[in-house]
Amino acid sequence: MSGLQEFGVYVHWPFCAAKCPYCDFNSHVSNGPIQEEDFLKAYIAEIDHWATILGPDMPALSSVFFGGGTPSLMSPQLVGDILQTLESAWGFQDQIEISLEANPQSVDAANFQDLALAGVNRLSIGVQSFDDGALQALGRLHDSVQARKAINIARTHFDRFSFDLIYARPNQSLQGWEDELAQAFAFGPEHLSLYQLTIEPNTPYKRLYDAGKLRLPEESLAVDFYERTQELCLKAGLPAYEVSNHAVPGQEARHNLLYWRYGTFVGIGPGAHGRVKIEDKRYSTLTQAIPSKWLENVGYEGHGVIDQQELDAFNQATEMLLMGLRLNNGVSLADIEHETGYWVDNDIIENLQVEGLLEAFDKQNNINLLRASQKGRLLLNTIAQLLSDGLTTQDQ
Ligand SMILES: C[S@@+](CC[C@H](N)C(=O)[O-])C[C@H]1O[C@@H](n2cnc3c(N)ncnc32)[C@H](O)[C@@H]1O
Ligand code: SF4
Repeated sequence: MSGLQEFGVYVHWPFCAAKCPYCDFNSHVSNGPIQEEDFLKAYIAEIDHWATILGPDMPALSSVFFGGGTPSLMSPQLVGDILQTLESAWGFQDQIEISLEANPQSVDAANFQDLALAGVNRLSIGVQSFDDGALQALGRLHDSVQARKAINIARTHFDRFSFDLIYARPNQSLQGWEDELAQAFAFGPEHLSLYQLTIEPNTPYKRLYDAGKLRLPEESLAVDFYERTQELCLKAGLPAYEVSNHAVPGQEARHNLLYWRYGTFVGIGPGAHGRVKIEDKRYSTLTQAIPSKWLENVGYEGHGVIDQQELDAFNQATEMLLMGLRLNNGVSLADIEHETGYWVDNDIIENLQVEGLLEAFDKQNNINLLRASQKGRLLLNTIAQLLSDGLTTQDQ
């Protein structure tokens, strides 16, 4: 099945035990106990809302992703109840992937077995680093011993697990990163998400950065970090299938692939994004981010959506390019044309190829698939913008 036909659900859990100083995800530290029954009611209401709007012809779900925040702090009962509601609404494909993001603290790890029993079949653990000094600087509540323990517990309960590391951190050496990667490979993971540290607006890290108190590696060193990462992962049998994601072939995260291949996904929970098709029109959706207001909105209206925009054909083509270029397998120009009526001007493709930023490859003698070259992956937004400027239709 082409990625465009896949259907998934993203469930956002907006709470964390503490706020990390680099993070701008929609995560909050609750100042009292969290009333899970209220959240369950609201999640169920949003699922009912979308089941009604999307109608009876949806395919069964191919993936569910619990993201956060820290969903490993949800009670397994809540996770199980949400999964049951999703299954009654749309059904599950036999090979459904049900992922959940977990933090490595012991209180989270104590939940892993029950989360597996509740139906989660893939765990993604936020290890971030194997270096205790770095974990402290990142404001993490766990140390490297807890990280190792969490990985070991995860692999006894889940067939599929992955972990995240953040690299190109302040004061990190290339050698130090190579050592951390070697420690990661020693666990035999079939999937790794490796993110270069980014300085996000409105975070304590941004304020330190602006005050000159936090320095990222110079650009040429950042490129070395990236290239070395690609090289070592490839050698370890974990080639990149996307800019920051590496997997043993066949173990790619299906939910991530659904995003990048422009499938349909419903986003429920506070601050969740979605992309849905209603009567042949595609919409972007966004829910209220503040948990208490989201609960209120769902209570009044049966859903927490505060922004729903129809995406015209040009916007869809641009999004398909932006998402698809992240993938090692590239983006299909035929799919874009079929979905939107747009294709990319050949001169622009050729110029980017001459610059060594883009690779176009043949399928049945047509230039059909485009992907960013290794060099181009570091300039993805610029390339996507140039290609988007070159989108044309018959009407133009
Ligand atoms: C939304 S977080 C949730 C995961 C989980 N709460 C945790 O912190 O382990 C998903 C991942 O985004 C990455 N991330 C968040 N902020 C980042 C930043 N500023 N730069 C690079 N990676 C970041 C981290 O690797 C994190 O594991
Ligand atoms: S990185 Fe994870 S634990 Fe830290 S604030 Fe963000 S979502 Fe929460």
